[in-house]
Amino acid sequence: MTAIAATAPGKIILFGEHAVVYGRPAIAVPVNQVKAKAVVLANPIGQPGQVDIDAPDIGFRTTMNELPEEHPLRLAIQGVQDVLGIPHLPAFRLRLTSTIPLASGLGSGAAISVAIARAVSAFLGKPLPDADVSAIAYRVDQVYHGTPSGIDNTVITYAQSIFFVRGRPFEYLKINHPFTVVIGDSGMRSPTGLVVGELRQRWQEDPQPYEAIFDQIGKIALNARRILETSQPVGLGVLMTQNHALLQRLDVSCPELDRLVQAALDAGAHGAKLCGGGRGGNMIALVDERNAQHVATALRAAGAPNTIITRIG
Ligand code: PMV
Repeated sequence: MTAIAATAPGKIILFGEHAVVYGRPAIAVPVNQVKAKAVVLANPIGQPGQVDIDAPDIGFRTTMNELPEEHPLRLAIQGVQDVLGIPHLPAFRLRLTSTIPLASGLGSGAAISVAIARAVSAFLGKPLPDADVSAIAYRVDQVYHGTPSGIDNTVITYAQSIFFVRGRPFEYLKINHPFTVVIGDSGMRSPTGLVVGELRQRWQEDPQPYEAIFDQIGKIALNARRILETSQPVGLGVLMTQNHALLQRLDVSCPELDRLVQAALDAGAHGAKLCGGGRGGNMIALVDERNAQHVATALRAAGAPNTIITRIG
């Protein structure tokens, strides 16, 4: 019997995380070296509606109906059902694998949702268009993040570099000169929803200083867009490091991420910043292609268990 498979890439936020939740612009790009994959196989001997889920990477095996109503995997599958208007599912097996590290700022949750939405809708004979896939992943991200901006589901669904402002149609970014980024893992997992929720609390108690920082981050994202679309990307480095300093002032960094950012700069990166929710997860550094291995080695020496070198544009 034929299996139906779909994949979705990871992502990094080049500029504007957190401020994007508060309406400021941000820039995100896909990372194709890491992927989430969903494979659907019919189960002719299963009961109608029996969905067996197997995620061997994390030793997770269950059926959909055993999961809580608001479980992300259940929401993704039921999201497909709702959009397609299919009240009863046939029996099938869903196998999920991913090389995107969990809870580390690379979009693992949204990528799994996108892969599920694509594979399950194709299996049901009605492959969903990107806008529906993205909307399903957004709904699921509400469980992961609480108040997602929508940037993760968008960049991962469309798998292209985007300029994103919450609540507005996103724009594809035309990157004029490709460039190289080293991604360094702090080795610490950090659920985005927690960091976003704590920042929201601090903002609610005293909005003014946070609004001022969000404005500065928004300006950096706008400047970065101009550089990406018109000139040599090395100018992005300074903006990245400035963005990191502002994220530190939002108190979403941590000593491990700060150490990796400094190690990248010391090894000759043009700029570096944390990436995603922060307080753990990954950081990124803009590098010359010929210096990428050297920066990756420096990051590992500074404690990063994993590094990825990715070419953007
Ligand atoms: O940690 P990640 O990769 O899920 O990125 C979250 C980005 C935030 O701006 C912190 C939250 C959001 O919804 O935009």
